[in-house]
Amino acid sequence: MIVIDTPEATRSQRLKAATRDSHGALDKRIMAGDIFASRDLFATFLRVQYRFHRDIDALYGNPALDALLPDLDERRRLPLIARDLADLEQTLPLPTSTRLDGDLPLPAALGWLYVAEGSNLGGTVLYKMAARLGLDSNFGARHLAAHPDGAARHWREFTAALDGVALTEAQEQQVIDAADAAFRSVHGHVEEEFA
Ligand code: HEM
Repeated sequence: MIVIDTPEATRSQRLKAATRDSHGALDKRIMAGDIFASRDLFATFLRVQYRFHRDIDALYGNPALDALLPDLDERRRLPLIARDLADLEQTLPLPTSTRLDGDLPLPAALGWLYVAEGSNLGGTVLYKMAARLGLDSNFGARHLAAHPDGAARHWREFTAALDGVALTEAQEQQVIDAADAAFRSVHGHVEEEFA
């Protein structure tokens, strides 16, 4: 396997390399929760998604970020996750203290959004698996359905903009730290919801 974390790599490639371990640990933990064994277990995963997307929801409404990133407001998935939960007759998770301010410093906001937007790629894999529970873009798995333009293309549009933002060396590290914090935060939600 080729590890891309040289200075010539793009920001999104460096983020991928820097968070490979935390992403792998999260994937494993979620799949160990056997989320496709029943609709109830899948709903537990939905609750994790709801908590994560509620935490970052304010970022999608930030005009400064919207000016830098394509279709930011349309990328919000919190309302779709809420509908998926309602389909499965779940109540919404109670508020937690992990919610971010919409005016988070730019580098940190980019790190969190990288994780949220990138998770759409894995989402396409999960979407296919959700079919075995009878869930799809009309019921229960709305938020995992690929964008009509294709998940890969929608992601490339996002990473092109993310890669184009000018940042200092110190800010570069803040993006990575924020992405790492995002993965750890989701892991924390998993531990609580699957407890
Ligand atoms: C809420 C939990 C999750 C988050 C936050 C998350 C986050 C991410 C991110 C940021 C990426 C983009 C990596 C990049 O290309 O830069 C990604 C890709 C991917 N994720 Fe996850 N992920 C999650 C759950 C899962 C799970 C449970 C699986 C299980 C199979 C998974 C499988 C994948 C796969 C296969 C890709 C790569 C697809 C590709 O490169 O074409 N993810 N995920």
